[in-house]
Amino acid sequence: MKTIVLYTSKRGSTQKYAKWIAEELDCEAIAFSKDKLSIINDYDTVIYGGWVRGGGIVGLDIIRKNFKKLEGKKLIVFAVGLSIDNKDNYLQLRDLNFKSPLNLVPLFVCAGIFDPEKIKGFDKLIIGVLKKIIGSSNKRLPKGIDEDNEAQVRKSLAEGVDLIDRKYILPIIDAVKSI
Ligand SMILES: Cc1cc2nc3c(=O)[nH]c(=O)nc-3n(C[C@H](O)[C@H](O)[C@H](O)COP(=O)(O)O)c2cc1C
Repeated sequence: MKTIVLYTSKRGSTQKYAKWIAEELDCEAIAFSKDKLSIINDYDTVIYGGWVRGGGIVGLDIIRKNFKKLEGKKLIVFAVGLSIDNKDNYLQLRDLNFKSPLNLVPLFVCAGIFDPEKIKGFDKLIIGVLKKIIGSSNKRLPKGIDEDNEAQVRKSLAEGVDLIDRKYILPIIDAVKSI
């Protein structure tokens, strides 16, 4: 069984998880972009990792739109974000990102890193909006950030946080090995 890890990472945490997974599975981890889609042809199992931005798993829409290229292959997705990996958060992430034909694709969540000093440009604008939504009393929280972990996410956005831990890859490795 030939496996590849593809990832989209802006500040390195998703890349770190992708490299750990590749190390465990003795395969390659490659930064993903649309022009790398043809790589998929050479593999039986594709693990895709994307960072979470405003509730969306970055890059997953490219995979979804090109799902035909994955026919007969196994796809596993992991998302890297700040929200605690609880059931509601998981369901929200699925709800927003796993529209047909991704409905049955497994999702794993890994905790990421956030340094407010390093956020610039459009991302800074998004963070400003997230902070406002989370801070307001009459809020509708974005998908992927639920009431339970709201306080933690608010603190993380304000002060920064590093939640990266190799333990998050263990269920992903198990899932690949049980194929
Ligand atoms: C603009 C922006 C929006 C974000 N939105 C979310 C979000 O909606 N939910 C979440 O859990 N984390 C969110 N995060 C946190 C990132 O997913 C986290 O920092 C992740 O580790 C970044 O991955 P990377 O290091 O691979 O780029 C956001 C971060 C940024 C900069």
